[in-house]
Amino acid sequence: MLNGKVIVLGVTGGIAAYKAAMLCSRLVQKGADVHVIMTESAKQFITELTLQSLTKNPVYSDTFDERDPSVVSHIHLADMADLVLVAPATANVIGKMAHGLADDMLTTTLLATTAPVMISPAMNVHMYTHPAVVANMETLVSRGVSMIEPGEGLLACGYVGKGRMEEPETIVEVVERFFEQQETTEWSMANEAKAPGLLEGKKVIVTAGGTIERIDPVRYITNDSSGKMGFAIAKAAKDMGADVHLIAAHTDVSPPEGVKTERVESAQDMYDAVMREFDDSDLIIKAAAVADYRPLKTASSKLKKQGEKMTLELVKTTDILETLGKYKQKQFLIGFAAETDSVEQYAMDKLRRKNCDLVVANDVTKSGVGFGTDTNSVHIYDAEGLALHLPLMSKEDVARRLLALAAERMTKGES
Ligand code: CTP
Repeated sequence: MLNGKVIVLGVTGGIAAYKAAMLCSRLVQKGADVHVIMTESAKQFITELTLQSLTKNPVYSDTFDERDPSVVSHIHLADMADLVLVAPATANVIGKMAHGLADDMLTTTLLATTAPVMISPAMNVHMYTHPAVVANMETLVSRGVSMIEPGEGLLACGYVGKGRMEEPETIVEVVERFFEQQETTEWSMANEAKAPGLLEGKKVIVTAGGTIERIDPVRYITNDSSGKMGFAIAKAAKDMGADVHLIAAHTDVSPPEGVKTERVESAQDMYDAVMREFDDSDLIIKAAAVADYRPLKTASSKLKKQGEKMTLELVKTTDILETLGKYKQKQFLIGFAAETDSVEQYAMDKLRRKNCDLVVANDVTKSGVGFGTDTNSVHIYDAEGLALHLPLMSKEDVARRLLALAAERMTKGES
């Protein structure tokens, strides 16, 4: 996520400045182009050489140290930044930022930049809760500065409390999430206008929900699928102009309004419904959680208990996706893979085994991901490997991004 991102890292004079070395190292490892500006006080805690060696970029601290005559350094850094991160941020620099002071290279750059600004405060607990500092931080937040709250613990000054700079690993995660979010917003803005026509004239089949495999008239085997992901895809496909046929098994929510919906129960019912629609379809998205096994026999009347043990014999269902993969001609096929481990390996295996064009995989052990949630985070694979990673976002957004990718691939395939 940080590949090629220019991060101007302001390091100010607190003991936590030593953590700036680890922070630089982690950001650089993630692909960021890090440019450090240190205050004079920061140099009491960590050397320029350390940060220069880690970032492979010159370190700035003096506003008047103009090394490249073709540019004004603080303006150049301010303009090239994708993000200005101040870590650690002392009470002093927070005060200067709040009052618009610019008496050194860092604060001058902070005033000159239009890039987003993030700060990671670090100070003594009493300084952190001082009304002046609190007011300054509130001012900065009200102007759109993001605050990475300090952690609690034993502070270098001997006090226990809030004020310890957040750990570099956590700061890097926050920075990554920030860019992911920014990328998602930019994508939505760029694609919102063209989305309505993306699937015009296409016939799309979407399967959703979890199949029900009956044991007897009152008992069945099913799974945790809520149907939300499939429904979001059906709705998004319709909004993009497609003629959508939604085939829905058991779901927790109602199907989207205005979408042609066929209700089914078992894997066999779903198979029959999909096969009826398959020949003249262009795109099939198999978001349903289809039972891999069903009871060998379904009792026609309610089973009565007998003895201490009962054995239920199960037989394999027909794999719908695999069948479609075998017979597909012009159709673009998307499968789903809900995994709990080795996500990439299993997803790629399904893609090849079932002859899919894309496989949407998610790690359902992650919070906010998978069954029942309103959000999802997925990895989309094609035959070459990872095609797109979507960080945690609403299932509606995942649906739009997935369909936009499919539409692009289908257009390429036609030309
Ligand atoms: N699928 C299907 N028909 C089945 C079983 C699954 O069409 N009888 C589809 C699902 O709709 C989904 C994909 O196959 O798109 C999931 O693949 P699958 O290998 O069944 O995943 P799991 O059920 O997680 O199976 P495994 O135990 O092999 O991981």
